[in-house]
Amino acid sequence: MIITIDGPAGTGKSTIAKLLSKILEFDVFDTGAMYRAFTWYLLEKKIEIHHSEQIERALNDFFLDIHKDEQGDNHYFVESQEITQAIRSKEVTEVVSQVSALEVVRKNLVKLQRAFGKKRNAVFEGRDMGSVVFPHADLKFFLTATPEVRALRRYRELLAKFPDHKDSIQYQKIFDEIQLRDHRDSTRKLSPLLCPSDAYLIDTTEMSIEEVLDAMIDKGRKKLRSFLFPRTKMRGTYRNVLRFFSFLFCWRYHFYLHGRMNIPRGASILAANHSSYFDPPAVAISFSEEIHFLGKKALFKIPIFSSIIKHLNTHPVSGKAGDAQTIKEIIKLLRSGKKVLVFPEGGRGISEKIREMLPGVGFLSYMTKVPIVPIYIQGTRQIWPTHKMFPRCSGSLHCYIGKPIVFAHDTHLDKKETLKAIDEELQTALRTLQGLAK
Ligand code: DC
Repeated sequence: MIITIDGPAGTGKSTIAKLLSKILEFDVFDTGAMYRAFTWYLLEKKIEIHHSEQIERALNDFFLDIHKDEQGDNHYFVESQEITQAIRSKEVTEVVSQVSALEVVRKNLVKLQRAFGKKRNAVFEGRDMGSVVFPHADLKFFLTATPEVRALRRYRELLAKFPDHKDSIQYQKIFDEIQLRDHRDSTRKLSPLLCPSDAYLIDTTEMSIEEVLDAMIDKGRKKLRSFLFPRTKMRGTYRNVLRFFSFLFCWRYHFYLHGRMNIPRGASILAANHSSYFDPPAVAISFSEEIHFLGKKALFKIPIFSSIIKHLNTHPVSGKAGDAQTIKEIIKLLRSGKKVLVFPEGGRGISEKIREMLPGVGFLSYMTKVPIVPIYIQGTRQIWPTHKMFPRCSGSLHCYIGKPIVFAHDTHLDKKETLKAIDEELQTALRTLQGLAK
């Protein structure tokens, strides 16, 4: 499957492409980096832009090596020299749009890009990915934003990267450069920057990276389904029950997941607000792997039902979230790499207010060093409130996944204070997510 993301500089394409490829476990290709690498090569060999014969020869000799590191970031090498940083230099940035407008350069690099796209799942980002290089791509996006916002993003990025060069980084200069590059990229004869008619156009001017990513996944939901929910990793019963709830929640309640990029790999404590029987399935369908649940011992005495919930990774506990046996059971699961759903407020609440956290979640994270993922579920309380026998047939359901809270060993705080701090952080995180939901 090929996904293309096109758009001008400063729309967040690279960051988005990287995150999307991580979520889907796809390869990612930044084709601007390829044009930059060749521009660097020409500068290195002191070949001028109007020397077409020399450029053709350089293209024959040019060999770009791309290595992916453990974080999934690409590193670029030419003639065994790493040029990952060098291709972002001022010198390269100034001439790259002229180099990328040359027919012979485009012809060669497009060939290379198509070869990279053969027989793999990949996200390609650039200017002409959906229009020229992969006109039959499975999913196409085009990101835009006003030049002012793009220049501001770039300005902030540079300030954060080079705080010592504060005085030489000027917003107006960056704005002018962006305008000039936009003009060159969109008015050139060959493969000008344009939004393909079959691409999803997203204006990112007032959106965070997280919101853009959510919007893209939502638009491509159908085509991405098998990658977002790689059912093969799940056992049959769990997979089928999840399929049922995914269908029901999307069909009747227009289920929407926010913050998918915050889902960490491996063991985690999934700490959600709780007001309805529909909370566990709402969290379960948000994850592409099996998660584990806790259930009161009494539930395991009900014939048939008990064997169903056992199949669905529900573990019997004696009662409250903070009790010793429950904690022991959760620690066992976390240490074996599982994701465990807990409701730190206790039983189902009747109001939308986030309640005090019961002691326990902080302790779990303290003991296991496993991150806590705050989750705010919105809508289940209206769809199936505590006093109703049956759920409503329609409604709106959202699940917000927050940034994981990672336990930090703070030497200034003793154990009791640390636990309190983690609980407070979780409560604040849940309230912040609730604020987003409004
Ligand atoms: O995205 P970027 O700033 O790294 O891109 C560098 C230059 O390369 C930019 O001026 C446009 C050009 N480019 C292109 O012409 N076609 C692509 N597919 C990608 C980038």
